Amino acid sequence: MADVITAPLPELDPDGVFARRSGHEQVVYCQDESSGLRAIIAVYSTALGPALGGTRFYPYRDETAALGDVLRLSRAMAYKSAVAGLDLGGGKAVIIGDPARVKTEALLRAYGRFVQALGGRYVTACDIGTTERDMDVVARESQYVTGRSREAGGAGDSSELTAYGVVQAMLAAAEHAWGEADLTGRRIGVEGVGKVGRRLVGHLVEAGASVLVADPDRASVSAVLARYPQVTAAADEHALRRAEIDLYAPCALGGCLDESTVSELHAEIVCGGANNQLATERAQKLLSDRRILYIPDYVANAGGLIQVADEIGGFAFGRAKARAARIFDTTRAVLGRAGADGIPPAVAADRLAQQRMSEIAALRSIHLTA
Ligand SMILES: NC(=O)c1ccc[n+]([C@@H]2O[C@H](COP(=O)([O-])OP(=O)(O)OC[C@H]3O[C@@H](n4cnc5c(N)ncnc54)[C@H](O)[C@@H]3O)[C@@H](O)[C@H]2O)c1
Repeated sequence: MADVITAPLPELDPDGVFARRSGHEQVVYCQDESSGLRAIIAVYSTALGPALGGTRFYPYRDETAALGDVLRLSRAMAYKSAVAGLDLGGGKAVIIGDPARVKTEALLRAYGRFVQALGGRYVTACDIGTTERDMDVVARESQYVTGRSREAGGAGDSSELTAYGVVQAMLAAAEHAWGEADLTGRRIGVEGVGKVGRRLVGHLVEAGASVLVADPDRASVSAVLARYPQVTAAADEHALRRAEIDLYAPCALGGCLDESTVSELHAEIVCGGANNQLATERAQKLLSDRRILYIPDYVANAGGLIQVADEIGGFAFGRAKARAARIFDTTRAVLGRAGADGIPPAVAADRLAQQRMSEIAALRSIHLTA
């Protein structure tokens, strides 16, 4: 799958050795024989602050696949933090293995010790295959952990502000496309009603939109329809995309935008919570050719990152929510830059991120006495 970040990463060396030209600051292999831990931590950039990014626990086919994933994901985190205006760099970690089979307290705590050994250059959080409870365990060995449970003083389930932030991005997109930051009466198709999607549906109903949903998990769809009887369900995701909707909100898997899915779309705007939505560069071109306004995923879904980032200074929900509300202004800025430079919004977001990272990193040339 192509990365959202528009500049491609260099190919990995054929023997799986870390590609020196990828631009990463640090890549650490972690191994603990007694617990069976095999992990890779990648720090893409600390130009803006400690590198924050989740831990993906996944049964990669081999180390090369795990390395490719962690390099790509850590870079994406740096861009997401930079555009969100956070004083954080970008990092990510992968633990190799099937979490359902090999995840143990000892393994998570061994991992925590490797995170701690980086001395705060990398701060971890949840991702696919890891939960808030896992972060509580990792935190027994490391102070550089966010995304812990609320009971442990953490930020809890980050889908809460992810969904809220997506609505802010949608409002800015509506203003750009339709002249008013208002979703009243708009027909919005939400693909995937898991943690993010179902919260998003609630916000949209409240905003007066007419909502259509699709999810292969029938129980999730039924739960949404029971809670919001005014919502309707499409037969499947193809039917949702082909429906007469104004806005398509992908909230399921990455890679949902390719030439075939973009051709199906009736919507004028794409704005959703899913990560890595663009499967190919040609999908981005097709979106532009068809004049469909695409809000870059990492701009729209930064609310979850903002939520867990807030935990670093002691979590305060109100402060995190106020910060997530600024996704409206960020989306505006991205669309403004795209218009000014005559480039797609995804490229504009990348440029804004790169600009902020290089401008703030340059401040280090100003010497401070201790
Ligand atoms: N949870 C967060 O805070 C957060 C933050 C940023 C980005 N994201 C991204 O948002 C997306 C959703 O995350 P989540 O936490 O809600 O995950 P989730 O696993 O809770 O929900 C995903 C839902 O998508 C459904 N789904 C799977 N394939 C589908 C398809 N083809 N069509 C329609 N629905 C399908 C699943 O049945 C499930 O209900 C992911 O891409 C994730 O990376 C999540």
